This record gives sequence, structure tokens and C-alpha cells, in this order.
Amino acid sequence: MNSIQHPKVVVLISGNGSNLQAIIDASQHDLPIEIAAVISNRPDVHGLQRASSADIETAVLDHQAFADRTSYDQALIELIDRYQPELVVLAGFMRILTTPFVRHYAGRLLNVHPSLLPKYTGLHTHKRALEAGEQLHGVSVHFVTEELDGGPLIAQAQVSVLPEDDPQSLAARVLEKEHQLYPLVVGWYAQKRLHLNQSGEVILDNEKLLQPVVFAPQDPIR
Ligand code: GAR
Repeated sequence: MNSIQHPKVVVLISGNGSNLQAIIDASQHDLPIEIAAVISNRPDVHGLQRASSADIETAVLDHQAFADRTSYDQALIELIDRYQPELVVLAGFMRILTTPFVRHYAGRLLNVHPSLLPKYTGLHTHKRALEAGEQLHGVSVHFVTEELDGGPLIAQAQVSVLPEDDPQSLAARVLEKEHQLYPLVVGWYAQKRLHLNQSGEVILDNEKLLQPVVFAPQDPIR
């Protein structure tokens, strides 16, 4: 596949990078993007090895070397913009972002979060969903705004919570859905089917999304 005309994407990670891997794998098949770089805020994470194995440029910008969020995010903007991406994809990037950062990438910053937002923003989503007795749990992909895990929703994939689930088993089933949903949504963006309009509304295939695209537990994600 000739990737030269494909939109450039920078992926930000903090850890294992399994969502990154799903996007890499899809980009080697039918996802029309060029991953220009993978950037981690932590050195030595497995996601960096995944990128290197796929011959993707990597960079580490260690947050511990910065005095505050503002200076870190400014340096991150400068690093990302060297690659001139059309889209920045947060794939397990576990940082709270500053307003200048989010505004700089308004409409071209996506995040995946392991819950059916607006439920369970933040951490420990699977444990909290189990404790609340949820029957449905899942994953959300959204545009990033200044609100933590709160930007306009694009798509969600649900999983059924099983009686025998613990946080680990539930997380594993949600992660499988993440790996299907995130490349799909990145593809909508790359194909210019998806954007955020001036009013902060999600437009998919020329229609305003009044609610996210929802894949029920048994639905194929495509
Ligand atoms: C994923 O479950 C992702 O949804 C979550 O971190 C994990 C990263 O896994 N992100 C968040 O919680 C963001 N608020 P990965 O490194 O294997 O892709």
C-alpha cells in the first residue's frame, strides 16, 4: 500500500501499547494512515518496542524532567509538530493535558477510554463498573477537550458483564473491543468521514451525531 498520501498520525503512549499495536496492524492492512511517530512520556515501555519493531520513529519525552504540566505540554507540542500530523491519537497516554495543549489540537485529538462514558471517567473503571453492578460496560472513543475523559463521544463498544467477572477478566474483554473500535474510528477520520465542527459537534458522514455510534456486545465492529 502506498502510504505517501495517507494522513500522518502521531500516537502518544505511556505503557504497553496494545492499542498502538492494533493501529499499527490495521495500518499495514486497510487503515489508510502513516504513523509518523510514537511518543511516550515514559522511557522503556513496551509500546516503544512495538513501534520500533514496525520501523516507526519513536521519541521519549519524560515528564519527570519538567517542572510543571505547562512546560511539559509545551515541549510535547513542539515535538509532535515536528512530524506535522493531521491527527494525534492518545493510546493509553496517562497524562492530564493542559488547556493550551488541548486547544492546539482541537478537532484532531482522539482518545480511547475503557468505560461507557460519561460513566467512569478516570482510573479503575472496570473495578468501579463491577462494584456498581453494571450489566453493560465497554469502551469509548472521543474527541479530546479540556474536560478529563469528557470530550464529544464518537463511538462506543459494549461488553456484557458476566457473573464470574473480576476486574482483570472484564478489562481483557474490553481491551479486545478497544483494539477493534479504535482503528475503525481512526479510519473514519483518515477517510475524512469524521470531524468536529466549530460548535464542538461530531459530524460523521455529513450527519451530526446526536449520540455516539454504539456497538452492542454481539455486534461486529466495522
Ligand atoms: C487502555 O485500556 C486504554 O483504554 C486506557 O489505558 C489502556 C492502555 O492500554 N486509557 C485510559 O484509561 C485513558 N483514560 P495499552 O497501552 O495496552 O493500549
